[in-house]
Amino acid sequence: MSAEDQKQAAGEAAAQLVRPGMVVGLGTGSTAAWFVKALAARKLDIMAVATSQATADLAKSLGIQVKDLGDTPAIDLTVDGADEIGPALSLIKGGGAALLREKLVWEASRRCVVIADSAKRVAQLGKFPLPIEVIAFGHQSTMARICDALSECDLGVAPRLRIRDGKPVVTDGGNLIYDAACGRIPEPAILAAALKSVTGVVDHGLFLDLADLALIGTDQGVIEVEP
Ligand code: A5P
Repeated sequence: MSAEDQKQAAGEAAAQLVRPGMVVGLGTGSTAAWFVKALAARKLDIMAVATSQATADLAKSLGIQVKDLGDTPAIDLTVDGADEIGPALSLIKGGGAALLREKLVWEASRRCVVIADSAKRVAQLGKFPLPIEVIAFGHQSTMARICDALSECDLGVAPRLRIRDGKPVVTDGGNLIYDAACGRIPEPAILAAALKSVTGVVDHGLFLDLADLALIGTDQGVIEVEP
């Protein structure tokens, strides 16, 4: 089974968790897109909140009613992908630069389900470069203070500004992304707190204690993993 097949299977399994009348958070990325397509195919009477403009556009094109965060009753269930799934369902997210809206939607949700192909499971977080979203104003100086925060966590890495097509990637919130190739993150909670304490950092891609369930596509079918 290819990674894409595993993503599709996980997305389709997650779509079965949705019930009529629910408010559903829609994740971002290729795996979440499978979920959105499978959900739309069920033609349920639901409302959705999207974690990115790209996902909102996809969902609307498939006939799903999309509202802004805050314009719906509480979100019952959010389904989203991840770049790495570590112990206790600790996650790295933000490979698609949507981490801020993703975290806002996740934190506003009663239940969060992460969906992924099997290659995303790791024994320790950190191989995937950790995305850090920063305010554009003075971002070079913010980056220097991010380096200090990383050093305090024994991570001697210099984050790199994310560039696409020769230009800095700008998020849906108008911010920039730095990627920190930590290699290993032995203490994610300590690093998360250190990064949040840097003025100019809007958020980072560590999602800790947020996922309630993982649905992971494998060659043997979709498996469920709890924290
Ligand atoms: C978007 O910012 C990310 O958090 C995605 O959810 C993550 O990058 C997973 O993407 P894929 O499903 O495309 O691997």
